[in-house]
Amino acid sequence: MIDNASIESLKNSIDIVDVIGSFIELRKAGANYKANCPFHGEKTPSFVVSPSKQIYHCFGCGVGGDSIKFVMELEKLSYPEAIEKLASMHNFSLTYTKGSSDYSDAKRVLEAIGQWYVKNLNQNPTAMQYLFNRGVSQSSIERFEIGYVPSGQQVMQFLTSALLPLPTAAEAGIIAQSENDQGYYARLVERITFPIYSASGSIVGFGGRTITNHPAKYINSPQTKLFNKSRLLYGYHLAKESIYKNKKIIVCEGYLDVVMFHQAGFTEAVAGMGTALTTEHLPMLRKGDPKIILAYDGDKAGVAAALKAAQMLSVAGFDGGVVLFPDGQDPADLIAKGQSEVVAKLLREAKPFIPFVLEKIVEQYDLHDPRSKEAGFGAVKQYIDRLSPIIKDAYIPTAATLLGLSPGFFGSQARAERARDNFAQQREDVAQLSILKTLIEKPALIDNVLAVLDVNMFGEYAGLFSALIKGEKDNPGLVGLSVDERFEVMNEEELNSVLRNFLIKHYDIKLKSIASSQHIPFEKKSYLIRKIRTDIIPRLKKGELVAFDLNI
Ligand code: CTP
Ligand code: MN
Repeated sequence: MIDNASIESLKNSIDIVDVIGSFIELRKAGANYKANCPFHGEKTPSFVVSPSKQIYHCFGCGVGGDSIKFVMELEKLSYPEAIEKLASMHNFSLTYTKGSSDYSDAKRVLEAIGQWYVKNLNQNPTAMQYLFNRGVSQSSIERFEIGYVPSGQQVMQFLTSALLPLPTAAEAGIIAQSENDQGYYARLVERITFPIYSASGSIVGFGGRTITNHPAKYINSPQTKLFNKSRLLYGYHLAKESIYKNKKIIVCEGYLDVVMFHQAGFTEAVAGMGTALTTEHLPMLRKGDPKIILAYDGDKAGVAAALKAAQMLSVAGFDGGVVLFPDGQDPADLIAKGQSEVVAKLLREAKPFIPFVLEKIVEQYDLHDPRSKEAGFGAVKQYIDRLSPIIKDAYIPTAATLLGLSPGFFGSQARAERARDNFAQQREDVAQLSILKTLIEKPALIDNVLAVLDVNMFGEYAGLFSALIKGEKDNPGLVGLSVDERFEVMNEEELNSVLRNFLIKHYDIKLKSIASSQHIPFEKKSYLIRKIRTDIIPRLKKGELVAFDLNI
């Protein structure tokens, strides 16, 4: 059990703004902070955090409480688990009355095995040679606590001799249970190891690079209570000070890139761990208000990742730019070859986010073909409409020039048109885009939608829908939508309900056009009107998903 006095002193040493701010984006609003509520979907912030009262409250859905309650609810943890999570986030040592905790035990295993990995490296000339060949200096090895993990058998022997319980080592992600014989095996073997730390500097996991040409070049810790890779950035704990001081953060792709960046004096470098930057990284990136430099490989995957990240960051209001490393080289290679000056120059010439995104979107369309040009215009417009109005205004000329169009297409004309759009039209847009967003995330539901709707019912988004069906994952419109937080991913039930409303609206409009049509014979007209009014719409309203009928 955790000692009560130690819970009290933890409570006194944490600030609710810090705690909640490390999970979601908070914005100052008078004496309080505001955010979109993480417990219910909303588009205008009604979630308030009060530093003076040390509580949060949502005016939309009514949830509220203190830091501990927040962590319990958000992470679905029990009371003691939430306390341990908070203690671990703040590097706070809890005291226990008897027994001990999962968190501190798992951390103890990680620390012990990390030290053992480091010791192994010194005894393994092959691994040392590998690192020196990659240009890593002795002082970088020490600073990043790079190590080496030998055979699985040696790992098991070490755990046993150090009296580290195997179930705890499994919880820490060091070993895993094999499926057939119930025994444990080491997850990392014969690899260079990179310990991964949380922002506050406690060890949470490892990444391992093979030096024996194992087909999995890197293996990272699995998701554990401590290790959530979509909220972590490798190297952050070592870069933090420079990030705050220089108001700059370099986000690159790999462990070795981070190590080599630091070695060359770019101590603001961090990396994701084989996953894209997501909105979960934003609170960490916002800390210290740095300019963000994305330093990615210039290959296809790198460009796609940079485009997605630059879109997300610019829409979220971050300042920064993109550097793509040419000719299949990465920062680690260049620095190892002694070309730090080239790297410095590339960083200085980073392309600002918004022009970068605009260029990359436009590049995907053939501007000589009017239809393709129109689609390009749609994709660009969808992106710049999500920027704040003043920023948007500033970039309309760039966008227009890139597309070879007059700025009027984006400007006042477009605005007046939008003002005429009535509320219903906007609601319909939301429905169409929410359906599309859901299908991007859950392609298995595409068939459900195709069974009841026709592509053309998506109006101006019909192109996006076709792209989705064709599996065009890099379509800029779809990428934009996937990071657009105004639209939510629905579950199947919600999707069906939106589909029904969508069909009801469609038939309402259809009714009007049938009634006023000059071309449909009277008999047919009354049949169709009766069918829609007394059969189709009532069935939809009762909850049945009636498929769209092309003959009506
Ligand atoms: N990665 C991963 N799993 C893989 C491959 C890559 O988790 N199978 C992650 C690692 O964090 C890696 C990053 O993605 O550092 C970038 O991958 P890649 O460019 O392939 O690796 P490099 O860092 O260039 O690796 P190296 O220079 O050691 O070859
Ligand atoms: Mn590399």
